[in-house]
Amino acid sequence: MAINTTGLQPGKGADGENNPPAIPISSDVLSALSAVSLRCVECAALYPAVEPGSSPLPRYRCICGGVLDVEMPFNLPGSFATDDLPPGAGWRHLFDERATGAPIWSIGTDKELLNTSGVWRYRELILPAPEAAVVSRPEGNTSLYPVGRENCGPARAGHRQIGAYAGLERFFLKHEGENPTGSFKDRGMTVGVTMARMLGANAVACASTGNTSASLASYAAQADMRGIVFLPAGHVAGGKLAQSLAYGAQTIQIAGDFDDAMHLVEQVCNELGIYLLNSLNPFRVEGQKAIGFEILQQLDWQAPDWLVLPAGNLGNTSAIGKAFRQAYELSLISHMPRIASIQAAGANPFYRSFKQGFAHRESVHADTVATAIKIGNPVSYTRARRVIEESNGIVEEVSDAEILAAKAVIDRSGIGCEPASAATLAGVRKLVANGIIKHDDFVVGVLTGTLLKDSKTGIPQEASGIVIEPTIEAVRSVLS
Ligand code: F0G
Repeated sequence: MAINTTGLQPGKGADGENNPPAIPISSDVLSALSAVSLRCVECAALYPAVEPGSSPLPRYRCICGGVLDVEMPFNLPGSFATDDLPPGAGWRHLFDERATGAPIWSIGTDKELLNTSGVWRYRELILPAPEAAVVSRPEGNTSLYPVGRENCGPARAGHRQIGAYAGLERFFLKHEGENPTGSFKDRGMTVGVTMARMLGANAVACASTGNTSASLASYAAQADMRGIVFLPAGHVAGGKLAQSLAYGAQTIQIAGDFDDAMHLVEQVCNELGIYLLNSLNPFRVEGQKAIGFEILQQLDWQAPDWLVLPAGNLGNTSAIGKAFRQAYELSLISHMPRIASIQAAGANPFYRSFKQGFAHRESVHADTVATAIKIGNPVSYTRARRVIEESNGIVEEVSDAEILAAKAVIDRSGIGCEPASAATLAGVRKLVANGIIKHDDFVVGVLTGTLLKDSKTGIPQEASGIVIEPTIEAVRSVLS
């Protein structure tokens, strides 16, 4: 398939003129997006979601170079908007009613699919997409495991070791590795690919440390679009690479790191008219907000004191922080949780900036065993900085040894996660030990990816199996 069949308009041609759009945007889509704007996080310039003249050329950055943030009014559907309810109650009723629908989604009814997705359940706060445009597996509805010393019941005695390791009484882990492709990326990707469809794109691309690419490959395949992924050669876990290949994405490995791949893909997308699906794309961030909304809903709209998560390109810090801010503004919750972003010490540009009171934006040459967060120049720096400042949050760093030790605890509890996700527990333990998080604080940590994609890092290979004769004597001898 030739690149010029992407459906999107390439950047300026050799003559400096924009070509006419290949596929006009439907009036449904134009009217759905008419109230959506994009605000530059650096200079506050405002752009419409779709530029005037219905050109489908997407905008990922302001003319000043800053990244963009989606803004839109939130309209509570009529039947839930009554004056006699306390603030926030209408929204809570709406989302709770949708969550108590049929537990098994039916492919036959779009409505059920939307309500059953842990992203589109919150659609008024995510993206006003026409229902027929939505590309969903569905995603979300991931477990929130109670793992604190106190909130962990007797049937979860094995999970209590996590709370003991962290030093916390009330502690939950939200396992985003339970999403369809095994990471939190599916939440942003369902929205990103839906947007690609709304704009008439035939091809989508991203740079990735492995999880975004797997997710893009899956959702692009579902939407029958061409998926193109750029990976840093030799720095992607085997299971993630296998997913992109299996789902049929064109998988291009570059001789460089993630930051090089990110730089390249932005240029590729702008010049070849391919729709960019990194979190530079502000609509991906909107989908990832649903992690925050779903955590709050699972907690019966009680905000925790702290939300702790691993940080690489900083899309997730930006998204969850934005969700909490919006939930607070809509009176869904009564206070803003503090956000703690945890970086690997070898990939810690955000931590370095934080330590200087964000006086300078730092970048590093990244190196860590947690390949998912091996990122030296995060794209969403300014969005995430705002989240840390607004939430009175904190940025912490943890060593590779601390990440692997925390991963061993999560794995042996029976929950399991990928190395980058374990930065959450390593960070919580450090912040509790330093007295920043108190033992009796109410804390939620995010596990961002499944154990299954990386079968090597931090898994005791020497215990990979004992082979014996199939006799009871041999078994007795091994067990004794
Ligand atoms: N955890 C996992 C498992 C990830 O895959 C990523 C990012 C992060 C944490 C960090 O999230 O970038 O929003 O701060 N993975 C991206 C990828 C970079 O390409 O899959 P972030």
